[in-house]
Amino acid sequence: MAFFTILLSLCGLPTLYLVGALILRKFSDSRFKSLHGCLDPPALPQRERIIGLDLLKDGAAAVKAKTSLEGAVRRIASTGNTFSNTVVGLNIITTIDPTNIQTVLAHKFNEYDLGGRIYAWGPLVGKGVFTSDGPEWAHRRAVLRPNFNRQQISSLDMFERHFSHLLALLPQDASTIDLQKLFFSMTLDSATEFLFGQSVGAQGAGQGSEADRFQTAFDYAQHQMPDRNRLGIMNLLVPNAKFNAACKVVHAWADTYIEQWLKDRNHDKKENSSSEATKYFCLEQIADEIQDPKQLRDEMLNVLLAGRDTTAGLLSNTFHVLSRHPDVWTKLKVEVDTLQGKLPTYEDLKSLKYLKCVLNEVLRLYPPVPTNARYSKVNTVLPTGGGPTRTSPVFVSAGSIVVFSIYALHRRHDIYGPTAEAFNPERWAADSPDGPLRPGWGFIPFSGGPRICVGQQYALTEASYTVIRMCQIFKEVQSRDHGPWREGLGLTLCSGQGTKVGLVPV
Ligand code: HEM
Repeated sequence: MAFFTILLSLCGLPTLYLVGALILRKFSDSRFKSLHGCLDPPALPQRERIIGLDLLKDGAAAVKAKTSLEGAVRRIASTGNTFSNTVVGLNIITTIDPTNIQTVLAHKFNEYDLGGRIYAWGPLVGKGVFTSDGPEWAHRRAVLRPNFNRQQISSLDMFERHFSHLLALLPQDASTIDLQKLFFSMTLDSATEFLFGQSVGAQGAGQGSEADRFQTAFDYAQHQMPDRNRLGIMNLLVPNAKFNAACKVVHAWADTYIEQWLKDRNHDKKENSSSEATKYFCLEQIADEIQDPKQLRDEMLNVLLAGRDTTAGLLSNTFHVLSRHPDVWTKLKVEVDTLQGKLPTYEDLKSLKYLKCVLNEVLRLYPPVPTNARYSKVNTVLPTGGGPTRTSPVFVSAGSIVVFSIYALHRRHDIYGPTAEAFNPERWAADSPDGPLRPGWGFIPFSGGPRICVGQQYALTEASYTVIRMCQIFKEVQSRDHGPWREGLGLTLCSGQGTKVGLVPV
């Protein structure tokens, strides 16, 4: 009996403590809510609000059916632009309200962080600008930032070199080719050259070659990311030998290259080599600030992860829609013809207004980062979305996740009109009948606030350059895939069916 009394008091105390803490938290939360005039947003219907098993099941089925993004659009249409739900005990607030998104990403930037991103992505890319928070992140971003100045990205020789490798792989007889696959290799080649000073050489690489192994491993590891994102810190408990092996292959390539480069660099310094610096690349620039080879690798892989698939996704979706809109292709060609067949300069890229409209429209309808999220570090408030009018402030308790569907935001009828779902580059033209479109925080393919994409100009330069060169070389881009567009969702968005086209030379 005495034994049971002792056991009960030992177990009872922590339980009592937990219940007490929960009551106190409820009390302080409701004080905070009334102090800020917060009212609850609509709740997404779910069978129970603890595990959210039905939502988890629906989510998994939608991923399989490649309908997650459209599913988000439907949920928002039926529940509200801001709504809440619970999954595995986590309070999730989904919003496509531009004011709320701006609050999270900019006005109250310091009240949020990336949550468990490091547990999901860390084994592949380590700690770098894309996986860190706070002062550590700010320092990393400041070190990287100068690499993306206009001066560094306006030299287009590198893009021409990798484009010419792509061209060599394109059939000239209008036979069917999947451009998406080729764009993924091209952007891997250009990004590795921009970052490491040496391209991995994925385009045209033979099966089993070093480049092929690197690309296969990098792609495999990235495709694991959505699942790893969902697991967060639980990744530490779930062994994944294939993922770990893929990370090792990626690290081995980067380590070998960085090690050799550091040796050559130290040797050159000792010899006081007068060899001219021939080209610019990130590694060389940041190595003055960062000496640890592992940290150099992590920084480079962070940027590679952020920049390669996103740009490939933009190009793949651009050609996917161009193949289905011959009128837009023809109009683009007329604009590109003003360059009279010469290789474009950086200034040319900026002067082609219709091209800019086309890329904006692709980024609107197919944002390469279609969903994003932030974790609240403290109790905080979203300015709108609660109560019967859905305009009252919304309470965000510490530890909640605020999710934004950029895909759904970019389809809002009150921002883009009743034809929001249609591909219409003209809507971006300065002389558009509806007036120039100024969606502000309603158009954020590159995010916004202090963590806005550092590679935006690099990506637009590479995409614009590639589209112009394709316009100069091909008369027609014929669609060879007549089904509707479907999502290809990994860490980023591409076309679920690839970009199967036939290219007719000029
Ligand atoms: C069309 C192409 C691209 C799109 C749509 C895009 C979009 C984005 C978005 C939405 C973010 C914010 C992610 C977040 O909040 O977690 C981001 C961050 C970032 N992007 Fe891009 N990106 C593109 C291309 C690039 C390229 C080419 C590079 C570099 C070569 C790059 C480098 C980065 C980096 C380093 C970050 C992290 C910034 C930080 O956290 O401070 N991106 N990008």
